[in-house]
Amino acid sequence: MDANRTYILDKISPQLDKNERIAICRIIAPMYRASEQEFQFVNAYNERISIPEVQFFERLNSFEPLDYILGYKDFFDFKLTVDQRVLIPRSETEELVWYLRQEISKMPKKNLHILDIGTGSSCIALALKRFFPHLHITAIDISKEALTLARANAKRLRLEIDFQLLDFLDESQWAKLPLDPDIIVSNPPYIPYEEKAMMDISVLEYEPAMALFVDDPFIFYKKILLFAQKQPHLPRIYLECNSQNAMELQQVYQEVYQHTALLDDLQGLPRIICAGDFKIAI
Ligand SMILES: C[S@@+](CC[C@H](N)C(=O)[O-])C[C@H]1O[C@@H](n2cnc3c(N)ncnc32)[C@H](O)[C@@H]1O
Repeated sequence: MDANRTYILDKISPQLDKNERIAICRIIAPMYRASEQEFQFVNAYNERISIPEVQFFERLNSFEPLDYILGYKDFFDFKLTVDQRVLIPRSETEELVWYLRQEISKMPKKNLHILDIGTGSSCIALALKRFFPHLHITAIDISKEALTLARANAKRLRLEIDFQLLDFLDESQWAKLPLDPDIIVSNPPYIPYEEKAMMDISVLEYEPAMALFVDDPFIFYKKILLFAQKQPHLPRIYLECNSQNAMELQQVYQEVYQHTALLDDLQGLPRIICAGDFKIAI
C-alpha cells in the first residue's frame, strides 16, 4: 500500500466497517494531494472540485456516505449528481435496469411508453433513455426536492424525461398520469419502520426516509398492481423488491398476471419481480 493510502486509512474512523474503510481508501487515495492537504476530483458536471482534508474526514467520520461527499454516483457509464435529496442508487437497481434493457431490446421499436414510479435521482429513467432514445418515459416522485435534482441530472445528460410531482399512493392523482403505459418500472420504498433499528447510521442520518420506509411493505406493490389493472392493457411490470417477501409478492401478482418471474441479484437473492401477459424469457 502506498504512503497516501496508509495515511488515509489511518484517518478514517475505526467505527466504520473495516471493508468499507478499505474500499473508501481505494477510491479516494488517487484524489488526495498530500502537498495541498485536500481531495481533488472531477464531479458529475466535469468540474474540478477541491475539498480540504479536514472537512473531508470530518464528514466521512460522521458516517456521511462517500457519494454524498463527492456529490456524484457512477451508474452504468454515466455520473449522476446525488445529495441528501435523493437515495443513492444501489447496484441492485443497475441489475433491474440491465434486465429491463434485455427485455426492451427484444420488443418492437414502436412508441414504447415507460412509467418510472419513485424516480429519485432518476437513475432508472435516465439509464433507460440513454440505452433507448426512442422511449417515452414519465418519471414521478412525491418529493419536490428529488425531482429538482432529477431534472438537473436529465438536463446535464441532455435526456428528455417527462417528470411529474405526484403521490402515487393517492389514487385520485392517477388521472394525471398518461394512460396505458407499456411498462411500469419502480424501486419503491419497502422497508418496514420496525427495521429502522437494524440499519446503518449512514443511511438513517443522511438518506431521505421517505425513499426507504413504509408502514406496509406491500403498499406500493399492491397500488402498482391496482393501477395496472385500471389500464386498457395490462402493462409489463419490473419492480425491485425485498428478497424476504419476494415469493409472497409474486403470489399477489400471479392472481392478475399470466406470467410472473422472480429474478436474482448477483448474490443469488430474489430482488426483482416481473410480470406480464407474455412469456417471460429471462
Ligand atoms: C427507494 S427510492 C428509489 C429512487 C430511485 N428510483 C432509485 O432506484 O435509486 C423510492 C423513491 O420513491 C419516492 N416516493 C416515496 N413515496 C412516494 C409516493 N407516495 N409517490 C411517489 N413517489 C414516492 C421517494 O421520494 C423516492 O425517491
